[in-house]
Amino acid sequence: MTFFLLVSQTNSLWKETFQKFVDTKANGPSSVGADLSLHGFRHVYGIPEHSDALQLRDTTDGEPYRLYNLDVFAYELYSRLGLYGSVPLLVAHKPDRTFGVFWLNASETFVNIHQSPVDHQDEQTPPVKRRRVQPQTDVHWLSESGVIDCTVLLGPGPQQLFSQYAQLTGYQALPPLFALGYHQCRWNYTDEADVKAVDAGFDRHDIPYDVIWLDIEHTDGKRYFTWDPAVFPEPLELQHHLEKKNRKMVVISDPHIKVDPDWSLYREARDGGHFVKDREGQIYRGSCWPGESSYLDFSSPVTRSWYSRCFSLDKYKGSTPSLFVWNDMNEPSVFDGPEKTMSKDAVHHGGWEHRDLHNLYGFYQHMATVEGLITRSGGLERPFVLSRSFFAGSQRFGAIWTGDNVASWEYLKISIPMVLSLSLAGIAFCGADVGGFVQDPEPELLVRWYQAAALQPFFRGHSAIVTKRREPWLFGEEVTAAIRTVIQQRYCLLPYWYTLFHNAHTSGLPPVRPLWVEFPKEEKTFTEDTQYMIGGALLACPVTEPGVQEVKIFLPGCAEIWYDICSGKAYKGDRTLILPVTLDTVPVFQRGGSMVCRSAGSGTCMADFQRLPLAVTVALNCQGSADGELYLDDGHSFKYRDQKAFCLRRFTMLSGRLLSRPAGEEGTFDCETVIQSVTILGVKDKPSTVSVHVPGTEDMSAAFEYSEACCMLTVISLNLRVVMDWEIQLS
Ligand code: NOJ
Repeated sequence: MTFFLLVSQTNSLWKETFQKFVDTKANGPSSVGADLSLHGFRHVYGIPEHSDALQLRDTTDGEPYRLYNLDVFAYELYSRLGLYGSVPLLVAHKPDRTFGVFWLNASETFVNIHQSPVDHQDEQTPPVKRRRVQPQTDVHWLSESGVIDCTVLLGPGPQQLFSQYAQLTGYQALPPLFALGYHQCRWNYTDEADVKAVDAGFDRHDIPYDVIWLDIEHTDGKRYFTWDPAVFPEPLELQHHLEKKNRKMVVISDPHIKVDPDWSLYREARDGGHFVKDREGQIYRGSCWPGESSYLDFSSPVTRSWYSRCFSLDKYKGSTPSLFVWNDMNEPSVFDGPEKTMSKDAVHHGGWEHRDLHNLYGFYQHMATVEGLITRSGGLERPFVLSRSFFAGSQRFGAIWTGDNVASWEYLKISIPMVLSLSLAGIAFCGADVGGFVQDPEPELLVRWYQAAALQPFFRGHSAIVTKRREPWLFGEEVTAAIRTVIQQRYCLLPYWYTLFHNAHTSGLPPVRPLWVEFPKEEKTFTEDTQYMIGGALLACPVTEPGVQEVKIFLPGCAEIWYDICSGKAYKGDRTLILPVTLDTVPVFQRGGSMVCRSAGSGTCMADFQRLPLAVTVALNCQGSADGELYLDDGHSFKYRDQKAFCLRRFTMLSGRLLSRPAGEEGTFDCETVIQSVTILGVKDKPSTVSVHVPGTEDMSAAFEYSEACCMLTVISLNLRVVMDWEIQLS
């Protein structure tokens, strides 16, 4: 103790000055660090969130990767600076091992990566004299405070690694089905008439969507949980209007609270001791959208439950069960704070300094909001909450997005590795603002962005207040048609996406995956971050460059067959394909050996699509076999969990026989959904008959169409209930 006092009097280590800010270190200077050498590994990934390539780079000659949650408007590209969220999970991969290092520390953290240089000397040496040089990656972790709490995940494969990480930090929440549809947002839809007009625009242009969003301007002077009486006088009527069409609304709720003693919510928070304090023990103040604000201390369980109760229908006036929530600015953003965030010496519940838990602030708000929505429904309904800030484990609460991107081709391109890095680190329900938040996209960019984002987990169009309006029908019929097509295709693919989310929820495997996750032995896939897999079945390669007439696509796997989902054309794997493209082309390939279920038909929103029959596409591999799963439930409640009200089917095709059976534990969900058609890709000879067998009924022959050119067989006019066992036999 004497020693520390001495230091404080003679040395500035107990006080740091940054611009006009003074950081008083009540507990003295500190840091914790560790060096790990990953022998045999050359490829490392993870530690989001950075606007950078999927594969982490050597940092020897530059900045380390920083994990420090910050509000960065129009962030720099290919940068290692910290963005809105942090997950301190680093994933290393080589052909025979996937390995993870989880550094559980929520203070400011730096990660340095050093890769052993290639030994050129050795390469020139005659092979007999050559030493075998193993690649090696050294990783240096350094955090400002806390303890060393580091878990090594041994894999050995990617799937085991995801499961190990999910066991530690939690599984992806199963979103309500509507949340996987398309979301329409803007800062701001100006009034109730504007919201209704945009909503009607989707119907008029025959574009499905599920949710319309209200940004900060909907509130009364940026007081969250209120409505601006001049422009949103009838919020209940507005939500009922949308609800009649099975659509939802999302409103923003930020963590800063306007300092306004005349506002009851402010007084409650102040009197209940729910605000973060400054180092002198006074309520911390900083500036944000409402002007002078105080910040809720979500690290306190008491504050979290108080905040959760603010979402109850009786307390949150003008809210209904179809209103969902968006937590923004929760790094937290403090306009006049150091680096636009909270001072590190601010004090939280239990005397913890902000420096100790900075990267957890948004995580805790997300947690409290989710809890509020669940409680609001009596524990029955699944919540939907989008958060900008996040930490390891945020996947348990809902979705995140990649913040304030820009309407440029480069930002469209970077959205893919950003989403892949987040997915690798457990944050599976993620996406980027379609079109770019800042500036105005040219029509071609907007179309390409919709095409790419329709193939990412969270799919929301959003734009800043100063940008031009950009609803999908404002750029002429060609653009409207292209956007309509991809949004409709997204909705048709939702049975597949939902099955993947159920899989993430139960196994930790993210719906979108870098190619190497599916092809762990193929080194050519290890650096690929323009194309990726959606589940095990679909390879996506969205176009992210202007004016292109062809794209190069790498189809991995020498034993694989890939089918172009548009033309049905088959390609052998382990080749680079040059595919001609037009503005309508979205290159997606189905892997031989897989099955994909789609909704057959159209509709205005998720509820319509849920009632449609299904069309199954079976893509045969070289052995003529394939398998896949389908998960269904009511799409909104916790009955799948509490009453086992789900249906999980496994389809298997082998030697011309396709079987549908329960996959594992049988659920009790009894739905009327039927399979209307089965398309089988890779059928070399036209069968003479196709028969259908449903236990307890007589075998029937089924109508089918066969295309010799595409080796494609479509069994039509089926009426097979998904919850039943059945078989289709080609002979
Ligand atoms: C910053 C968010 O990133 C953006 O999406 C939002 O529109 C603005 N805050 C205004 O709330």
